[in-house]
Amino acid sequence: MCQYSASDGSASDWHLQHLMQYAISRAGMIVVEATAVERRGRISHGCLGLYSDANEMALARVLAAARRAAAPGTAFAIQLAHAGRKASCQAPFQGGGPLPSDEDPWPVLAPSAIPFAEGWSVPQALDGAGLKRVVGAFAQAGERSTRLGFDAIELHAAHGYLLHEFLSPLSNRRTDAYGGSAENRMRLPLEVARAVRAVVPRTIALGARITGSDWADGGLVVEDAIQFASALKAAGVDYVCVSSGGNISHAKIPLGPGYQVAFAAKVRAATGPATRAVGLIAAPEQAEAIVAEGQADFVALARAFLDDPRWVWHAAERLGAQVSYPPQYARVSRANWPGAELVRPMR
Ligand SMILES: Cc1cc2nc3c(=O)[nH]c(=O)nc-3n(C[C@H](O)[C@H](O)[C@H](O)COP(=O)(O)O)c2cc1C
Repeated sequence: MCQYSASDGSASDWHLQHLMQYAISRAGMIVVEATAVERRGRISHGCLGLYSDANEMALARVLAAARRAAAPGTAFAIQLAHAGRKASCQAPFQGGGPLPSDEDPWPVLAPSAIPFAEGWSVPQALDGAGLKRVVGAFAQAGERSTRLGFDAIELHAAHGYLLHEFLSPLSNRRTDAYGGSAENRMRLPLEVARAVRAVVPRTIALGARITGSDWADGGLVVEDAIQFASALKAAGVDYVCVSSGGNISHAKIPLGPGYQVAFAAKVRAATGPATRAVGLIAAPEQAEAIVAEGQADFVALARAFLDDPRWVWHAAERLGAQVSYPPQYARVSRANWPGAELVRPMR
């Protein structure tokens, strides 16, 4: 989850504490926030990047520390991203809009010169050289991620960022080989997937976060996600995470518990790469049911984990499962804390 706390793309002490608390969480996989593959692909000045040696060194420090603390078997992933027309913005807690002229904005890129919303920067449509550069930047960040020792690399092709912008007919109005038909709109994201797969050993999982729906007339629907997931699988992608929205400012999203799970279930049933569900999944019983019923192979939790980095421990308690605590914290377990039920009213 984006922390908007990096300096020219380099991880800070905030990232160290942020990731180390999850390192001991017993989560199966910890995904480092959207990390820009080129400087202009950052959402904000504070976004993490992996476009320079300094970025790589800063992340190496954080990852090494997190790994030293991590429970055995914990996988660390990194999400590689390019913000496209949603780059050059303020952090949400600074307003979240496009950077004003006195906050060092930069030109943004997209498939077509269509701004995200009224008042947002009009993007430059990527030309042939720009497309090539973007594919190369993803591949180079894939190489850096491999050197850093990540267990998985996840391509961000959702939430209205560059790869999603190419996929959606609402943001991609190109008339060349990268626009028009679904095949053409998938071309850049698939080139990126193949280029990253080519430089990343098979021992490192390659995933992608994709869009189950644009929630807007004429936009992407779940059948597009199925088609894209199949093509990604053929390109060597091992898993997809099915999210939605983010590309259309006026989209009406029917929020509710597990509101995107049905998309994941459809993609999983139709295509078969390992599938992750995300979105308003918070209760242990809910997460358990999604996996047990075969709607997804695994689930991702965002806000529930920010709220409670000990979510796994608490879920295990609720579901009567065994989880090993870091030995330093072993006395937290109810089994080792007689009377805990008398003094732990919060959860
Ligand atoms: C603070 C914050 C930062 C986020 N950063 C990212 C990100 O870097 N990459 C991404 O794909 N989604 C990001 N998201 C979206 C979440 O991954 C997730 O898809 C969304 O919050 C819905 O899941 P939840 O209900 O479990 O929070 C972020 C969400 C929050 C709250």
